[in-house]
Amino acid sequence: MKSLHHKVAVVTGATSGIGARIAEVFAGEGAYVVLAGRREREGHERAAALGEQATFVRCDVSLEADVEALVGHAVDRYGRLDIMVNNAGGPGNMASVTDFDTEVFARTMAVHVAGVMLGIKHAARQMVVQRSGSIINVASLAGKIAGWSGLDYSTAKAAVLHLTRCTAVDLGEYQVRVNSVSPGFVPTGIFAKGAGADASVADAAAPSAAAMFKPLLDSNQPLPGTVATDDVAAAALWLAGDASRLVTGQDLAVDGGMTAGRPAAVSRAERTRMRDHLSEDVRATEVRP
Ligand SMILES: NC(=O)c1ccc[n+]([C@@H]2O[C@H](COP(=O)([O-])OP(=O)(O)OC[C@H]3O[C@@H](n4cnc5c(N)ncnc54)[C@H](OP(=O)(O)O)[C@@H]3O)[C@@H](O)[C@H]2O)c1
Repeated sequence: MKSLHHKVAVVTGATSGIGARIAEVFAGEGAYVVLAGRREREGHERAAALGEQATFVRCDVSLEADVEALVGHAVDRYGRLDIMVNNAGGPGNMASVTDFDTEVFARTMAVHVAGVMLGIKHAARQMVVQRSGSIINVASLAGKIAGWSGLDYSTAKAAVLHLTRCTAVDLGEYQVRVNSVSPGFVPTGIFAKGAGADASVADAAAPSAAAMFKPLLDSNQPLPGTVATDDVAAAALWLAGDASRLVTGQDLAVDGGMTAGRPAAVSRAERTRMRDHLSEDVRATEVRP
């Protein structure tokens, strides 16, 4: 039997990128999937491509009424909710703290933090009654280590990691699990959107981001290769299903090891450079009269 046979899942931010792939993988594993996002044409097209087991609901996750209606749609249609994936998010901005802007910060927090909290709130109201459910939040490597994305975005993702733990302990007694996945660099449209491109143009150009990442990954990611939306979806699938039934409050990093540390080859090359530099200094000292 498929691992999500007849389970009911909601995936926010499913009109493109990671969320779209999670919705496809869940549907392929037998789940009824409700896709959500703000872009209606893309959402309806993606749901239609998944067949009768998928529907699309327009939803801005920063608006509580939208999130409540989204969860309500899933429960009205299928009678329950087993999996909630809080994935919706936009790009960060790279401004320094010296240019901190409260409005921009509030918008980032409204989508990335309050949006996740609202998804948990409304999903949990149903899951608590059922005494079961798996909630998966999409965080980021930027929430664990600084310097990989903008200040607002990184701060928001760090909050997602901790709100995952806080809500996991809050809901544990009802057998409702809350976990997160933290992707590394995944070629999606989010980077071009951050550079100001129109969303559909950015999504179409997503594969070209892989070439852009290459030098960055070579020097910072221990495992060679580019993290794909498939890799993140596979982690979400494991957290969604019964195989992880006693896992809660945890983060699963899908980052090729970037948050574990630097590739050993990079450290070795640096040590060699330092040793060569030091031995030149020693030689210079030795020849001095
Ligand atoms: N790509 C990476 O390298 C990476 C790394 C770490 C974490 N992440 C996280 O992964 C998640 C998905 O990003 P992605 O890379 O797949 O980018 P993406 O292709 O741009 O997808 C973002 C999704 O979020 C939706 N969205 C944005 N704002 C929304 C809002 N206010 N309400 C509802 N939906 C909204 C977008 O749909 P609409 O435009 O239709 O609303 C879209 O479906 C984000 O949370 C992102 O921070 C990405």
